[in-house]
Amino acid sequence: MSDVKTVKVALAGCGTVGSGVAEIVINRGAALADRTGLRFEIVKALVSDASKKRDLPFDSSRLTDDPADLNGVDADMVVEVMGGTDRAREVVLNALKRGIPVVTANKALLSHCGVEIYETARKGNTCIAFEASCAGGLPIIGALLRGLQANRNTSIMGIFNSTCNFILTEMLSGGATYDDALRSAQQAGYAEADPTLDVGGGDTAHKLTILASLAFGLNLDGDQVAMEGIQGIALTDLQIVEELGYSCKLLGMGRRRVDDRVSLSVHPTLVPHSQTLAGMSATSSGVVVQGDVVGETFYSGAGAGSLPTASAVVADMIEVASGSAQKTFDQLRIYNDRTKPAAYLPSGDRTYSYYVRVPVSQKSDSATCSDQLRSTSLNWQQVESMSAHDSVVGITEVMGESAFQKSLDEVREALSLSEPPKFIRVLPQETN
Ligand code: NAP
Ligand code: HSE
Repeated sequence: MSDVKTVKVALAGCGTVGSGVAEIVINRGAALADRTGLRFEIVKALVSDASKKRDLPFDSSRLTDDPADLNGVDADMVVEVMGGTDRAREVVLNALKRGIPVVTANKALLSHCGVEIYETARKGNTCIAFEASCAGGLPIIGALLRGLQANRNTSIMGIFNSTCNFILTEMLSGGATYDDALRSAQQAGYAEADPTLDVGGGDTAHKLTILASLAFGLNLDGDQVAMEGIQGIALTDLQIVEELGYSCKLLGMGRRRVDDRVSLSVHPTLVPHSQTLAGMSATSSGVVVQGDVVGETFYSGAGAGSLPTASAVVADMIEVASGSAQKTFDQLRIYNDRTKPAAYLPSGDRTYSYYVRVPVSQKSDSATCSDQLRSTSLNWQQVESMSAHDSVVGITEVMGESAFQKSLDEVREALSLSEPPKFIRVLPQETN
């Protein structure tokens, strides 16, 4: 076709996501050209070891492990899918300084260095697009940048990490141990290079801060978010909460209060079975956004993996090559180099109800344990004996986080426990 424009792409990273991008733009090149009038050509691809054997859909002579080769190449855009915040930051800033637009899937980089990157893009008269950075193939950034612009967003919450959702699903339904499930997630390419970012909640916090910057104008580094991961979740708890009508999910939650302060949190959360997020299993991600005009909207789909993530990267490549990304980046005042930062609500001020589990020891029966739990100063919605699990569990009324943390000592003392009881927060009603 004569009216097809060739777009030269410098690919920084050719692993799980990068190889998916190459596969789509090359193997589907003709279909994409028919639909978009664009044909992407990978002119250079940066990897850490260019001598490694790979199955690539482009000429392997285009691989390099020297970043200088990428900087020197004549490209229309740089697609950064290498991960990390050191070399990736250099690659991204170098491109933007030279006026070359960037597409990235790197949430850690944007969460830590977003302002610097946006400012550099503006100085270079260019732009950055990052749909794949939050929840893989889901078009949640596009929803915030376009579909929801008429709204004042009041909450955004969801399952943002596929590795954790996969592990929790495999433990509960697949009979896998935590370690085996994590290993499978790594082998499938869902996990980060450092998987503690996944299981510790950091990756969810990175995504949440990017979304919260667009949704609320909050300018926060992922490291500042109150977070807990899934490492301490036991199969017993996953099973008990299902019997009580909940699913345990690692949720990222951002809420704008009436006083305009914004709270962000990342932790395992009990989601009632009646909520759609409870049904998202394995590598699915789900995001619920509340806007004051539209009400609730829900986005779901594959949150990780080579082709689903590459789908979002290629969508951005088309937006960049067609000029739409530049217009959006120039026009909207929602990138956090341009917004008046919203105030952050510290974690101690938050309120939840809490699931608490105490083990029934040989010394005391479950009726005694239940009575002891009820006799503490906490207000309980329910206290249940789960004899099949040698446990007594209670769910508190809604209370402040600081007060709850203090009363854990009281529970420990009242029941003569050797360590503080396990607890999991319950999804607050107001975000339902
Ligand atoms: P990956 O499989 O580990 O691939 C990383 C690629 O970058 C590899 O080709 C690697 O080279 C190259 N690379 C890494 N560090 C480098 C360095 N210092 N210098 C030169 N090349 C380097 O990672 P991935 O899963 O594709 O993830 C890439 C990015 O996408 C990350 O930011 C991640 O958070 C994000 N992301 C991933 C997913 C997913 O499902 N995997 C989903 C959404 C977003 P070698 O091939 O030689 O090792
Ligand atoms: N490690 C990430 C996850 C990749 O498991 O969700 C997608 O961002």
